[in-house]
Amino acid sequence: MCGIIGYVGTEDAVPIIVEGLKKLEYRGYDSAGVAICQKDGFAVVKQEGRLNALEARLAERPIAGHMGIGHTRWATHGEPSDANSHPHVGSRNMIAVVHNGIIENYRQLKEFLEKKGVPFISQTDSEVVAQLCEYYYSGDIMEAVIKVVNRLEGSYALGIMCLEEPDTLVAVKKDNPLIIGVSGHGQFIASDVPAVLKHTNKVYYLNDKEIAMLRKGDVRFFNFDKEPLQKPVETVTWNIDSAEKGGWPHFMLKEIMEQPRILRDTINSAAGGGNGTVIGRLDVARFNKIVLTACGSAYNAGMVARYVFERLCRLPVEVELASEFRYRDTVIDAKTLVILISQSGETADTIAAMREAKSKEATTLAIVNVVGSTIAKEADECLFTAAGPEIAVATTKAFSAQLVLLYCLAVRFGARLGKLAEKEEREMLAEIDGLPDKAAKVLEQIDAIQKYASACVVYKSIFFIGRNIDYAIALEGSLKLKEISYIHSEAYAGGELKHGTISLVEEETLVVAIANCERLYGKIMSNAEQVISRGAKVLLIGNCPYAEQNGKLSGIRLPECADLFSPSLSVIVLQLFAYYVAANKGLDIDKPRNLAKSVTVE
Ligand code: G6P
Repeated sequence: MCGIIGYVGTEDAVPIIVEGLKKLEYRGYDSAGVAICQKDGFAVVKQEGRLNALEARLAERPIAGHMGIGHTRWATHGEPSDANSHPHVGSRNMIAVVHNGIIENYRQLKEFLEKKGVPFISQTDSEVVAQLCEYYYSGDIMEAVIKVVNRLEGSYALGIMCLEEPDTLVAVKKDNPLIIGVSGHGQFIASDVPAVLKHTNKVYYLNDKEIAMLRKGDVRFFNFDKEPLQKPVETVTWNIDSAEKGGWPHFMLKEIMEQPRILRDTINSAAGGGNGTVIGRLDVARFNKIVLTACGSAYNAGMVARYVFERLCRLPVEVELASEFRYRDTVIDAKTLVILISQSGETADTIAAMREAKSKEATTLAIVNVVGSTIAKEADECLFTAAGPEIAVATTKAFSAQLVLLYCLAVRFGARLGKLAEKEEREMLAEIDGLPDKAAKVLEQIDAIQKYASACVVYKSIFFIGRNIDYAIALEGSLKLKEISYIHSEAYAGGELKHGTISLVEEETLVVAIANCERLYGKIMSNAEQVISRGAKVLLIGNCPYAEQNGKLSGIRLPECADLFSPSLSVIVLQLFAYYVAANKGLDIDKPRNLAKSVTVE
């Protein structure tokens, strides 16, 4: 994980770097640092803790200069501490480095350097990059960097400065994201676009094994053989406001509230130029199986989509965690469509799953939010969610955009296969088209949800149940709650309750039951009765008719909706529920402990 930023130009680099780090803090937030290249050496300030701790240190000890690098860390090797924070500077004070990724052979490299007398001061894998670069440096930073990368195993996005070449910032990428921004006053490197949006919307996306040499007035690109590369500059359509809190107490709440618009934008972009656009070049008749694979919430989106694809396309559908898929000897071949779902497009396990699927000749289709990301570039086909930048670590709007795009895809897929009549296709698309307005109606119930959630901070454990597609979305409700409120939570298929979990139900247990599948209303209601009779309280979310039971059964009623697409409405209540439980506990909602938004390590 970790976020890196660098700047070279005519302005003071420090405020630019600190502001950029704020936009990258979602990538890691256990320590941060900045290094500025000055005439007589690097000025380095590093601080364990959140970015505001670094800001406080910088206020005590101001530094300035026109070229610098910064880092916000999510520790992998070595505890969070000042010494382990980046930037790392070589022992000869010649090279400064920020790194995102993992250097897998760092022990061997460290031993090699220690035998040559190089002293190390941190426990990190990243310090070897700075030390090795110094070891190889003999007057040409690019030469030294190429020698270094030829010895590195693992993944890295690097920002490198050399004291003897004070006008050049070097960027290198392999298996971790890195973009280059260009503006009138200077050039930037960053892990993600929002970090530079305030200054420019013109970016280059670095590919793996590419080097960028940034100077005040220009950027040049090379491969690891030192051959120059021509790359196109691209214009980012994301707007700076979407990366700002804009008066909301948390990004998460802002992003929840944006969902009606995000759903609309994603539906419109899926409709594109007309019928079947979302299917693009896919030869649907070729496939005899669909596999959906992803991590975290994106996996839960896959769980929901399984029910939709099965019902509409009548094909076998599997859903698999990318971290499992990549190591299983999965039975897939050229007749399998593997759908990868990822907000960032950079999740290490999902990338590996994609590569595994490609190696077995399956067709890969990605659902991704970040243009220029690894998955977007490498998948055979890519569909983009129109969620804009998502900053809160716990995903909300990007998840909703994934769901609605998967619905559109499934409907078009089923129709193209001839499994849906034209009329059914039209009706389904009209139903999807109605979701943004219905989502806005759900948001109108925010006060009721807040009131209910505020009373739930006392629970030690909260269970979520549902049947069929309601079970799939229950998984996301449970994940959202535990991620940000730190309350233990599990989701079960309603029918499984009596195979174990019900033994945990006692006086004052809360069970959240989701009920949108009309043919299963009776069943989920009897699950509710079973837990109520054992002392639990039930919160019912859905359009199932129910009667309040003096404090034992309460409900949030959703607008009428086809059961297949109802997860898009249930999830909004589940997100708000999790949000207000966490808010009432006074927790740091946008940056939950131990988590990071983009998991670029295994
Ligand atoms: C992390 C995030 C989740 C996200 C998951 C997959 O765990 O905190 O919100 O769902 O990674 O990320 P991706 O970018 O692949 O969707």
